[in-house]
Amino acid sequence: MTEERLRASLSTAGRGVVVATLLVACGGDPAEPVAPVVQPPTVDSLPLRTLADRRGLRIGTAVDRGFRLPGTEGTRFMGVVSREFNVLTPENDMKHDRIHPARTTYRFVSADSLVAFAEANSMRVRGHTLAWHNQLASWLTSGTWTKDEATALLEDHIDNVVGHYRGRILEWDVVNEPFNENGTLRSGFWLDRVGREYIEIAFRKAAAADPIASLFLTDFNIEGINAKSDSAFVLVRDLRAKGVPIHGVGFQAHFQVGGVPSTLAANIARFAALGVKVHFVELDIRVPLPSTTAALQAQAQTYREVFDACLQSPACGLVTIWGFTDRDSWVPNTFAGWGDALPFDASYLPKPAYWAIYNRLK
Ligand code: XIL
Repeated sequence: MTEERLRASLSTAGRGVVVATLLVACGGDPAEPVAPVVQPPTVDSLPLRTLADRRGLRIGTAVDRGFRLPGTEGTRFMGVVSREFNVLTPENDMKHDRIHPARTTYRFVSADSLVAFAEANSMRVRGHTLAWHNQLASWLTSGTWTKDEATALLEDHIDNVVGHYRGRILEWDVVNEPFNENGTLRSGFWLDRVGREYIEIAFRKAAAADPIASLFLTDFNIEGINAKSDSAFVLVRDLRAKGVPIHGVGFQAHFQVGGVPSTLAANIARFAALGVKVHFVELDIRVPLPSTTAALQAQAQTYREVFDACLQSPACGLVTIWGFTDRDSWVPNTFAGWGDALPFDASYLPKPAYWAIYNRLK
């Protein structure tokens, strides 16, 4: 791209401030977007989803509040989503408390509009999530239920939610975060009321309700080889041996900068050997706040490592990032003192992390 065209495309986008920095940084030949130069996507730079597609990879993001932003702000937000990503996860809209607010009431309206948005933009949807210990409706958790009643409630929930979107969901996170760090099963409503068979029941019910969707078990801190991922491995192996329909393992991958485990590739490989997909389903890479240039460079390198690992395994077909802009991320609210975990800054401009992903996919 010539300097004139670059300047034109950038000022069309109303980003004159960035132009000056960019032209200085690029030293006159801005043809190649080279990290660490921070520049906005231009008319000539291909969206990540196009680059990923050429690599046989899908790239996703999760959205929540941004999807409901009014006016031009909302348009801008969702413009980035549909330009850059081809998979969409509702960050909260399909969780139990949102979608099933009373025993006999399902509220699909928000998730429906998100799915419709995805379909209108040739994106696929990851359903998130069916059996989890968090964000359960209070009518459920405050009730006193027998084991049979709780089992029926799990089955009814999965039947209705998965059935509602039958044929329209790429992958469901069927069971989310089932393990403690030491590899034992985590206490929570479903385990405590139904027993450990809740896992198998959930997968079988989901497959019955949508035979096309790929069904995933997802957790955090199972990216490397450790006690927790050992248990996940044994569980997936045993479920497969019993003929339970489970098709993938989702590594949440909520990492700290520089925090990709050295055993990641080996861990992907052992799950892949079981015949399941291994996807990154909630990737973000947090840095200490306030972030520094050096930290954002290191973050870019960490993003690159994750995409490397995925590209190097035939079992890995998807990386979903948990959000995309630092304006809207769960990280600062959850990990005190940490943030800026995503590839776009709070003004929706690409950070070094964006260009690291871009260059790795190119
Ligand atoms: C988080 C959302 O990002 C927040 O908006 C919400 O307040 C809490 O949940 N693991 C998961 C996700 O499986 O559902 C969580 O999402 C982040 C951790």
